[in-house]
Amino acid sequence: MAWRKSIALSIVLLSLPVVGVIYYINLQAKSKAADAHLWEKSQQFHVSKKLMTVADEPLAKLGRAFFSETAFSQNGQISCASCHNPEAQFADGLKLGLALGQVKRNTPSIVNSAQLRWLFWDGRSDSLESQALEPIETILEHGITRAHVINVIVDKYQSVWERTFGAISPVILRGVPLPPALPRPIKIEVSKIALSRVMASMSDSDLLLRYSDASSSSGLPIEAVIAESLQVKSYYPESWYQAYEAMDPKSRQEMDRMFIQFGMAIAAFERRIVAVDSPFDRFLAGWKKGGSVEEAAINGFGDDEVEGLRLFTGKANCTFCHSGPFFSDGEFHNIGLAGVPGQLELGRARGVPLVTNGSFRCQVIGVLRPELLTSETCQMLKYLDPDNLDILGAFKTPGLRNVELTGPYFHDGRAASLDEVIDHYNLLTAKAAIGHQEEILVPLNLTDKEKKQLIAFLNSLTYPVEVMLSSDP
Ligand code: HEC
Ligand code: HEC
Repeated sequence: MAWRKSIALSIVLLSLPVVGVIYYINLQAKSKAADAHLWEKSQQFHVSKKLMTVADEPLAKLGRAFFSETAFSQNGQISCASCHNPEAQFADGLKLGLALGQVKRNTPSIVNSAQLRWLFWDGRSDSLESQALEPIETILEHGITRAHVINVIVDKYQSVWERTFGAISPVILRGVPLPPALPRPIKIEVSKIALSRVMASMSDSDLLLRYSDASSSSGLPIEAVIAESLQVKSYYPESWYQAYEAMDPKSRQEMDRMFIQFGMAIAAFERRIVAVDSPFDRFLAGWKKGGSVEEAAINGFGDDEVEGLRLFTGKANCTFCHSGPFFSDGEFHNIGLAGVPGQLELGRARGVPLVTNGSFRCQVIGVLRPELLTSETCQMLKYLDPDNLDILGAFKTPGLRNVELTGPYFHDGRAASLDEVIDHYNLLTAKAAIGHQEEILVPLNLTDKEKKQLIAFLNSLTYPVEVMLSSDP
């Protein structure tokens, strides 16, 4: 019987290499399929040249001067660059923005902001042009009125302004310096359905106490007190609003027009601030269809980054929201961040009524620059639904290019590091402050190694910022 055993043994031994080869081929095929799958999923991240085209060089240069002009502020010390510091990714590295006072949101980097469909964490502005006007008239930021802006333009920039926009109207020049004047804040109508949902989900006893106290002292129902607290406050002296209302319509229209043009110049500058050639981009450019990931790896994008990319587009499902060339779907999501005692943040549910009623929404910009008015932008406003409960507590998906350098993170800067951000997605232990956390989010249970790989991938999106504008004035 011994010979039978040895024959069987020889057969087994002889077939081992064959099994091995088959196993190897199978593995190869599997990894090839995985690579092809990853290749498909990664194509969305290519930045096309078309996305990056910019026009209006003289306008952008004027905007660059305005961006760092401190005369456009109440104390003569604040400019856009105070908070959007060119040396710090056009952000400030602080938890919460600080100008004349501290604001309640984290300052986003405005690198690649030409790509933003909605502006601000709650999307309350719909163009870069109109966004630029808001901090000017906000009491905690620049703290001045549009009349003040016009005075500074006439005083310091008249000739370059007139070269760019044509002669300043005599109705303006006659009145300069204009007295402080600005329109009253608009009344916003927060959805009743959203408010009743806020009441139902209000777990923060601090907050409930605050509003019920105010409710009993004013005799108003608690919903009305909350709705009132969400209004844009009129912080300025009543006489400034009255001055605006008392202006003759022609001068008022001209003043508003110049103010919008001021925003257009700043936006033209912002559109040229980019960072799009990271190690990841170079890796992606070199990775040809059908090729293996390993072969495509380059300096700065190796094994850890590749595994991080796999997680980002696969198991961790980050691309559900952080999609496209700038790693954002441009939309709003409730990612289940816990409430902060005493703070009520409705997110997009407040942003929607603000953007649909805002005085500088796309139609007004379109009066000056019809080419900026695509049917898509105005359609977007038409289809916003204030009663959609998914927008309660939802904030804009931030882009992730240069994210390594733009901490602290989240709308209120609550996460000091990317580790903390990943821990949030990994554990999802908090109860959403308001509304409900999006169902697509489930605890990821990533290992420490996987967390490191995911962060390695995020860090591979870093590239020095470029301002595409020659340095001469
Ligand atoms: C307090 C310092 C501060 C000043 C001064 C300031 N900003 Fe901001 N900026 C912020 C903060 C904070 C936000 C986010 C606010 C929010 O979402 O509610 C922001 C948002 C933005 C955004 C939107 C970015 C995005 O991702 O949606 C742009 C663009 C921007 N600012 C440009 C400007 C310009 C232009 C100026 C000057 C006219 C300016 N900022 C002045 C702090 C500042
Ligand atoms: C359901 C949509 C969604 C998914 C899925 C998602 N994010 Fe986010 N992400 C957001 C939103 C919305 C914010 C801003 C939330 C806020 O500040 O309230 C955000 C913020 C971030 C920030 C902070 C950026 C900054 O500038 O403050 C990082 C980093 C980030 N996400 C990375 C990831 C990673 C990595 C994954 C996958 C593990 C992921 N996200 C999955 C929607 C999502």
